[in-house]
Parts: sequence; C-alpha cells; structure tokens
Amino acid sequence: MELKITCIPGDGIGPEIVNEAKKVLNKVAKKYGHTMNYTDILMGGASIDVHGVPLTDEAIETAKAADAVLMGSIGGDTNTSPWYQLPPNLRPEAGLLKIRKALNLFANLRPAYLYPELADACPLKKEISEAGFDMMIMRELTGGLYFGERKTVEENGVKKAIDTLTYDENEIRRIAIRGFDIAMKRRKKVTSVDKANVLDSSRLWRAVVNEVAKDYPEVTLEHMLVDNCAMQLVKDPAQFDVILTENMFGDILSDEASMVTGSIGMLSSASLNDTKFGLYEPSHGSAPDIAGKDIANPIATILSAAMMLRYSFDLDKEADAIEAAVKKVLEDGFRTGDIYSEGCEKVGCAKMGNLIAERI
Ligand code: IPM
Ligand code: MG
Repeated sequence: MELKITCIPGDGIGPEIVNEAKKVLNKVAKKYGHTMNYTDILMGGASIDVHGVPLTDEAIETAKAADAVLMGSIGGDTNTSPWYQLPPNLRPEAGLLKIRKALNLFANLRPAYLYPELADACPLKKEISEAGFDMMIMRELTGGLYFGERKTVEENGVKKAIDTLTYDENEIRRIAIRGFDIAMKRRKKVTSVDKANVLDSSRLWRAVVNEVAKDYPEVTLEHMLVDNCAMQLVKDPAQFDVILTENMFGDILSDEASMVTGSIGMLSSASLNDTKFGLYEPSHGSAPDIAGKDIANPIATILSAAMMLRYSFDLDKEADAIEAAVKKVLEDGFRTGDIYSEGCEKVGCAKMGNLIAERI
C-alpha cells in the first residue's frame, strides 16, 4: 500500500527524531512491501523564520492532502529565542494549535506504559513501580482554555489577563465516546478527570460522561478530581486504564504520567478526528538545549509512527513490529541518556534509530 505522509520536522530536536522515525518506517515499508510517500511542511519557529508565521494556509492544505501527519516538535527556549518576542498568535505554539483546530483533531491519545526494562528509570518507589502500569490518557484537544477567547487589558492602570474555558456538550460527548470505545479494547475502565467541585465546565463534563457511559454497560466509570488524579498518578498508577479529560488537565497529567514511565522521551501520541486521518507526535517538546547534539531519545516519535500505522492505516502487524523492536532494543540494553541506568550501553539518537530499524 502507498502511505501518503506529511512530515513536520519542526524545531529543536524535531528534525533529528523525525529522521529516526522515517528510518524505521522505511524499514517497515521494505519488509512488508509498502511505499512511503513523504512531503515535508514547515511549522513553528522553522516556519516563522521563512514565512513570518508559524503555519501557512498552504502548509495546512498539504497536511490535509495526506493520509496522516508525522510531527517532531516545535518551539524554542521561551527565555532567549526571538520567536517569543512576537505577538502570541505568531509564536511557534500557535502553529500547533492552529493545525489541531484546522484538522479537527479533537481526540488526543497518550499511552503511558512502564517497560519492565525501564523500571530503574522510574522515579517511583520500587513497591509502586513493581506493580507496573499501562494507561491511555485521552485528552480533549480542540476546546477548553487553549481555544477560548483571551485578552489582556488595562483597567484603571491595573493590567488584567483573561482566558476563557468553554465546553459544549457535543465537544464533551465526542471525546467521551472515543474514550469509552478505547476502554472497550483495553481493560474496560474509564477514569473521567475534572474539577467538578469548582468549575461549571467540569460539571457539564461529568453529566455528559455519565450519559455516554449508559451505552457502555461493560465499562466501569469513575470520576476523579484533577488534583487527586495528580496525586494518584504517583501513588498508585496501576489503578488507571483510560483517563478521560479536558485539554489543559490532559496536557498537565500526560507530562506527569510520562515521567513516571521513566522519561518523557518515551511517550507517543496520536491526535485524531472523525476519520482515519491523524497527526502523530511525541508528547514531549523540542528540547532546544540538546538540539543538534545527537543525544535526544527518538523512541516517542518512533512509537508515534507505530500509532500512525495502527490508527490511520490499519497496519496492525507493522505497528506491532515497531513496538516489538523498541522493546527488543531496551531488552538488549541500549539506552539514550534520558533513560540510562548502570550496566546499559549509552547510545545517541541516530544509533538508537538504527538499532530499532535493524530489529524490524
Ligand atoms: C503538548 C504541548 C502543547 C500543548 C504546547 C506546545 C502548545 O505541551 O502537546 O502537550 O500544550 O498542547
Ligand atoms: Mg504538553
């Protein structure tokens, strides 16, 4: 089959990690008889430098014309990069928010799984990490605070900033349905996370999730307040199967969940709309401090490429092959710096990509 993929190398370590993911995809293509057809587009700082904006309409059209988008990371050092002197709507992150909205990518899947081989990199106590964990964070991605109206005004000489958090029932329903569908393919448990003791948007969230749950009698639903969830993730992560939550809570909790897997460098993600189309990116950022040094961990991007094969192309066997190759590389004792522990062999970004490709 021919796979039409738009790539967004982006900024920082983005180009390096996308390169490694392509290496692995090319190996898959060769072994299983597929053709990869890649087109690159600019986004984030890379686009600002060329076009003055973080994402052009032409780039969005190119992305739409593909079957899936594979992305690295965007953004720079917020303290030192000139990109952050620009108005907020022209900064790198605005490009990412724009593409998510333009492609209607409302469902963000972030799996957090503890590889037994990385138990030593897990910062939790042994009693906790020994239980293992395997959860899927379902983050709503095109609503809430990140897309609400915002402004900064001055009233009587006092500066005031306003961000608005809005959800309508349809936005909540469609992500909840996705969450329950995924739970049906997993351990059939949904933990819906909100702040219903304070926020109206959370109270609506809870009511709609309860309604959707009626169609999934086999799934156990529980509601958890976000502050408690942050605590439970480090106290007893094994309790979670699917965590269903709104945009900002999901942003924060997925970073936390990834860190308990050992490193944020391991966490992949898929952002999906109503069709088979998706954007696949690691959950981590562009790590400008280590860019160009060949030390970044490409595994999150490689695992995102596996998610792409699974969700956009229904190529489960090929996706399994990538996931198995990652596991094998870890079993064989190879580690990038972020997941290194004693007795292992430390390798760089390109070497890690080669080692995984070799095991396909
Ligand atoms: C993420 C990132 C983005 C987000 C930023 C870069 C806008 O943190 O994908 O988690 O908040 O969604
Ligand atoms: Mg984030």
